[in-house]
Amino acid sequence: MQTIEIHGKKFLTSIPRTSIENEVKRVAAEINQDYKGKRPLLLGVLNGAFMFVADLMRNLDIECEISFVKMSSYAGTTTTGAVKQLLGLNESIEGRDVIIVEDIVDTGLTMQSMLETLKGYNPASINIASLFLKPARLKVPIDVKYSAFTIPDRFIVGYGLDYDGLGRNLPDIYDAAE
Ligand code: IMP
Repeated sequence: MQTIEIHGKKFLTSIPRTSIENEVKRVAAEINQDYKGKRPLLLGVLNGAFMFVADLMRNLDIECEISFVKMSSYAGTTTTGAVKQLLGLNESIEGRDVIIVEDIVDTGLTMQSMLETLKGYNPASINIASLFLKPARLKVPIDVKYSAFTIPDRFIVGYGLDYDGLGRNLPDIYDAAE
């Protein structure tokens, strides 16, 4: 097992790149099947999903398009926590089959707020593809149609996911050591 250090914190190898590759291919095959004859718009959520969405798209053999969005960190606060705002949606998604592509659904609050905003633009359908799901952390029910890995409540880095800005370039996934 390989140990690395990021910002003074130790991380251990957890998911090798070969497993990620296999699972991304499996998710792509499901999307190829479900969206046959359609032309989905992949909405990659920056920054974390950039690697996943690139690999996912290269495994799609249906017609598809891509665009990127971002959630602002904090646009204000409520009693339930941070209110985030959707940034970067420059085109109309009315009547489109949208697939939100996210790195990880943790509490689900980011996805909840993104779904609410996107539904207001009247897409034909919206589904979520997330590389990781941490069910133990979910605070709101979110229906994630496509997910590559379900993981325990541990902080992870690599393959696009960061720890305070670093670690996104790692080709494998690392778990925070206890
Ligand atoms: P949520 O709103 O709590 O679901 O947060 C989702 C966002 O938090 C993800 O898109 C990530 O940017 C970040 N995040 C949550 N868990 C992790 C993790 O284990 N590693 C890196 N980023 C994470």
